[in-house]
Amino acid sequence: MNTEPNDQTETGQPVTELRNSSVPSQPQPVGAPDVTPDVTPQPPTPPPATPTVSEPKKGSKKWLLLVLAIVLVAAGAGGALWWHGHKATPKPTAAASTTPTVRIGLSLDTLKELRWAKDRDFMTQRAQAHGASVTTLVAESDDQTQIAQIENLIAQKVDVLIIVPHDAKAVAPTIAEAHKAGIKVIAYDRLILNSDVDTYVSFDSTTVGKYEAENVLNAVPKSVAVPNVMLIGGSPSDNNALLVHAGMMDVLQPLVTAGKAKIVFDQYSADWSPDIAYANVKQYLATGGKVDAIIAANDGTASGVVRALQEKSLAGKIPVSGQDAELPAVQRIVAGTQTVTVYKPIQLLANQAVDIALALAKGQTPPSTGTVNNGQKEVLSYLLKPTAVLANNIKSTVIKDGFLSSKDVYGTH
Ligand code: BGC
Repeated sequence: MNTEPNDQTETGQPVTELRNSSVPSQPQPVGAPDVTPDVTPQPPTPPPATPTVSEPKKGSKKWLLLVLAIVLVAAGAGGALWWHGHKATPKPTAAASTTPTVRIGLSLDTLKELRWAKDRDFMTQRAQAHGASVTTLVAESDDQTQIAQIENLIAQKVDVLIIVPHDAKAVAPTIAEAHKAGIKVIAYDRLILNSDVDTYVSFDSTTVGKYEAENVLNAVPKSVAVPNVMLIGGSPSDNNALLVHAGMMDVLQPLVTAGKAKIVFDQYSADWSPDIAYANVKQYLATGGKVDAIIAANDGTASGVVRALQEKSLAGKIPVSGQDAELPAVQRIVAGTQTVTVYKPIQLLANQAVDIALALAKGQTPPSTGTVNNGQKEVLSYLLKPTAVLANNIKSTVIKDGFLSSKDVYGTH
């Protein structure tokens, strides 16, 4: 049995070499519209007022002149009518098609966890509501792909980049490339370390880890004097995994020091892999390890943990945590096989990120709740609060917010 915590704080992954950059040689000023001359057409000179005509005598010269006058007036009135109609249904003009729009480039690590599609969709909706656009590229958990995709977005001259890094350090050199091209960069949900990133928008991940640990430990029967605790971490290349771990330890360390809890397993799971979480718990149990509580970093890893517990008929007997309030996790909470998840209202985060992107594009200082050190600087940050979700508050949290439906969670309205 592994009785020593294996406290990894390094990513163990080399910082990726910067590839040949495709930064455009003509940097675009942030938020600058594509300007073309205003070619609003000038209205034609209004026609003369219609003269009042007295009834002409047929066959007279005066009659001929009057007919001519009426024809001319009618032509003028027709011109006026044409102009009126033209104004009512204008053809797209050069001026209308060049309305300044902010173009946001979104670089996602992955769509594996259910949340990221929501992040993308909410950001796109918010941007569209403001006449802006979002171009999304997904790196499929590969650093080289993500770097190339960010360079692609820079070459497309987006106005602002929003990045969810696969590796907190690997993408750092692309920030300098973006800045050279006049593009501001937002680290979304996950911090980008050792870089000049402009701002960071996320949830307080240390609090996520605290909520996970507190609620799992609360669920351990009082009859267990010194619970054996397994820590199933997230991806070591994701700064959030380190913050979540730090939050777990804030709760656990005093108990361990006081001899009131024992950490029997402590490892990260590359790419937040449910399969790695599963394999780790399975192996621990297979070698006869005893466990009383499992603090899993997110709902994905929790799914692997519960699968391993199920195979040993232990599901529902050992408290398990997660985060993201994914539907399958909340269903597990209802079924009693997971104890807690941590709800992070994605729409608030996505809206905030887009609002910050629009502010940055206008050259404004974005709103913030403080700063976070990324190893190179104090990064202006906007951190939102997460909420612990247990069986007794599902309705008043995720369902009340419309994040999940009662029908999906409980199978009824
Ligand atoms: C996010 C979690 C997510 C995990 C895996 C973390 O950075 O904060 O919400 O479950 O990545 O994608």
